[in-house]
Amino acid sequence: MDYLEINKEAWDKRTQVHVGSQFYDVEAFKAGKSSLNAIELKLLGNVEGKKLLHLQCHFGLDTLSWARLGARVTGVDLSAAAIEQANILKSQLGLPATFIANDVYQFDNENTEKFDIVFTSYGVLCWLPNLNKWANTIANSLRVGGEFHLVEFHPFNDLLSGYRYFPQIEPDIEDEGTYTENCDGTKSTVVTWAHSLSEVINALISVGLIIEFFNEYAFSPYDCFEGLEHVTGKGYQMLHKGQQVPLIYAIKARKIA
Ligand SMILES: C[S@@+](CC[C@H](N)C(=O)[O-])C[C@H]1O[C@@H](n2cnc3c(N)ncnc32)[C@H](O)[C@@H]1O
Repeated sequence: MDYLEINKEAWDKRTQVHVGSQFYDVEAFKAGKSSLNAIELKLLGNVEGKKLLHLQCHFGLDTLSWARLGARVTGVDLSAAAIEQANILKSQLGLPATFIANDVYQFDNENTEKFDIVFTSYGVLCWLPNLNKWANTIANSLRVGGEFHLVEFHPFNDLLSGYRYFPQIEPDIEDEGTYTENCDGTKSTVVTWAHSLSEVINALISVGLIIEFFNEYAFSPYDCFEGLEHVTGKGYQMLHKGQQVPLIYAIKARKIA
């Protein structure tokens, strides 16, 4: 099974739907609205002049939002359709950015540049079979002293939705629609892997990155799961037996040698 080909086809298809969605609201983005959320804006702080690598950048809204804040950005994504859209937006808006269509692991084999910041967020890890290889990509891309930021959906929510929590070598293979409101029911086959929090943390530790920050959040900025309720001024929450479910987590790690 060529999981990269299967997932690439799914993300190429999803990209066409996402570009026209209210969820991504490209028109507002073009008019100057940032696609970044309070969590990552606070964690990364001032990015002015920093070289920032955005792994799994989708069609570039977050990447270009960092560019608007003065970062010197490179975005990498498996989907050629997503990278094509990112390049169109970049040209339309006259923003400086480099976009590369590639698999994360293959990018690691080819990349010779070093970055001040590596950033990746919201729905990225499940597409990767091996987190040690992912962590190596991060460590190899950072300069000494550089920092890594992950903001990801919390696996507890997946568990409550009936997905496995503990990792397994064999992937889940499913036919799924996408998460934007304009999904017309068209499904694509997707190949995914569950990753527990300990697996993520240990992968980063195993490549020598020093974890400086770990946080869990009860509110998600995105309305992309069933059963979420909106709380004004906070975002979306999920209650399980009356208690808040952790929906997002964030990790900051540093390369020290
Ligand atoms: C949920 S999206 C990322 C979300 C992003 N924060 C956003 O909303 O714009 C996941 C992205 O991972 C990309 N992806 C999946 N597998 C990949 C791989 N092996 N290498 C690089 N990118 C991959 C997909 O093409 C997709 O654009």
